[in-house]
Amino acid sequence: MSSETLEFQAETRQLLQLMVHSIYSNKDIFLRELISNASDALDKLRLESLIDKDLEADTSDLHISLEVSAEDRTLTVRDNGIGMSRDEVVQLIGTIAKSGTAEMLRKMRESKDAAAKQELIGQFGVGFYSTFMVADKVTLVTRRAGEKGGTRWESAGEGTYEIEPVDDAPQGTSVTLHLKPEDTDDQLHDYAADRKIREIVKRYSDFIAWPIRLGDSDTPLNSMKALWARPRSEVSDEEYHEFYKHVSHDWTDPLETIHMKAEGTFEYEALLFIPSRAPFDLFMREGKRGVQLYVKRVFIMDDCEALTPQYLRFVKGVVDAHDLSLNISREILQQDRQIQVVRRRLVKKVLSTLTEMRESKEKYLGFWSEFGRALKEGLIDDADNRDALLDLLLLPSTASGELTSLRDYVSRMKEDQKDIYYMTGESRAMVEHSPHMEAFLAKGYEVLILTDPVDEVWVERITEFDGKQLQSIAKGQVDLGATETPAEQQEEFAPLLKWLGEKLQDDVKDVRLSSRLTTSAACIVGDEHDITPTLEKMYRAMGQELPRTKRILELNPTHPLVTGLRSAFSASPDDEGLVETAELLHGVALLAEGGELADPARFTRLVADRLARSL
Ligand SMILES: Nc1ncnc2c1ncn2[C@@H]1O[C@H](COP(=O)(O)OP(=O)(O)OP(=O)(O)O)[C@@H](O)[C@H]1O
Ligand SMILES: [Mg+2]
Repeated sequence: MSSETLEFQAETRQLLQLMVHSIYSNKDIFLRELISNASDALDKLRLESLIDKDLEADTSDLHISLEVSAEDRTLTVRDNGIGMSRDEVVQLIGTIAKSGTAEMLRKMRESKDAAAKQELIGQFGVGFYSTFMVADKVTLVTRRAGEKGGTRWESAGEGTYEIEPVDDAPQGTSVTLHLKPEDTDDQLHDYAADRKIREIVKRYSDFIAWPIRLGDSDTPLNSMKALWARPRSEVSDEEYHEFYKHVSHDWTDPLETIHMKAEGTFEYEALLFIPSRAPFDLFMREGKRGVQLYVKRVFIMDDCEALTPQYLRFVKGVVDAHDLSLNISREILQQDRQIQVVRRRLVKKVLSTLTEMRESKEKYLGFWSEFGRALKEGLIDDADNRDALLDLLLLPSTASGELTSLRDYVSRMKEDQKDIYYMTGESRAMVEHSPHMEAFLAKGYEVLILTDPVDEVWVERITEFDGKQLQSIAKGQVDLGATETPAEQQEEFAPLLKWLGEKLQDDVKDVRLSSRLTTSAACIVGDEHDITPTLEKMYRAMGQELPRTKRILELNPTHPLVTGLRSAFSASPDDEGLVETAELLHGVALLAEGGELADPARFTRLVADRLARSL
């Protein structure tokens, strides 16, 4: 097989474009990316050779070496790790397997401002492609451990790359960058200078567990200390932060660092981080999650989902468990009792760290705005930690534009107020202006405004906080004391309510008088266990078939439209126009809560007719 020219996958091409025209100002990080890939390759080879005794690989001096040539203006990063087969090169370097790439690129294209773009690309992590920020040509030579022939790959980062077999490739991978001219104004430094390389390695890759050598020197540039194994007092914040960037591929410092060590029957060390901002794929089904698992300093796997629950998927870091088998699979991990113990402790520790973080308001608000939505999922999935999670909630309410904790809400409750009131909906404005609010606002009761889709689900699971019931203002009967409708009023309205119930039977299951309305004529409420309209919409959007939920029409007995309808009905119950009025009343109530009319054309025609008659 001779040399072939292949095209990059479309998304890769777009990403490369961004790299070539380098939108990111800190170009030094390309080296961190290459060293991180080399380190991964060495980890993989070590693990594979421990498991597969027949693998014909040389593991005697695993290391990373850097070579610079000032004359040729090249920098080479070489490892003697696992290497890649030809197919792997095409697969791994020619395409981006990450889920959400297209989505990320679309957002990139749409965002005008450069800072926002940087932010996005930083969240995405560009790995190998970051080399094109500093090089106008990249040559990669690789041979997979155990295989005979090697592969040479070369590209200028434009549309295509060349690939050809080579006979004399050493085991592992070398990446040679043909460097762009130095341009310090653009933060493009001289990466063919020893001094610069030393500085970058020390800064970004000091904790890499493999020796990183420069030129012919055998003395590694890095200290190689596994950060998590060192005592906390000996590690600087800066070192923690760089390590975080290494494991997360984030470009900003973490918000919080958690360093744990457990001794005794089951020994492990954990170094966890809470990021400052959410990754782009936090809410994508195939998004990256979980921490890295090591066994006695040997890297075992990335994204170890057995160690953290789904709702804490944003926590990054490393767990080094001492007594596990190197051979352990993901499936076995899920069931391992010791792993479950570790997981429980990690969760407790993360939650207690967040509880402490609440002391500094700004910081916690920052955390909440990035990860609050994910944390709420814990209220559904993690019954053991429900109380801690409830205390971590921050929710919008009618009290002010600020978020409130449940505890603060309770402390503001009126003396005669029994329950914690909330309403779910699609937006703050919709909830705030909904007719259901009227009586609550009139009484001065605060109502929580829940507009995250996940809110619809957790409120169904949580019945109380601090001995107070959580009560939806759009469901069930409300008991607001004195506003209860008197018996004679009930009697007066009984025939009208019955008639309306019959006329509207396709749309509602009951018509009754309301104590929650002060200014609106009507509203629609659900029974205690009815699914909310927002949730119904969400299920439909996900393609689920649902029977239509009929809800209850509540009327305001003091509203002129309602009293007028009652008089008209008792005067001539068979009047054709009354049926239309009933229909309009129902439509108005539906619109007020942001609902959808079954037949909008008919509704507008009825309204227009009435308006015409009133002129
Ligand atoms: N030195 C190397 N040796 C062996 N395989 C490599 C090497 N460099 C890259 N690869 C392969 O190419 C893939 C793509 O690398 P890239 O750095 O772009 O992404 P990544 O390392 O998977 O993810 P990220 O760097 O964003 O965490 C790697 O997953 C790896 O399989
Ligand atoms: Mg990488």
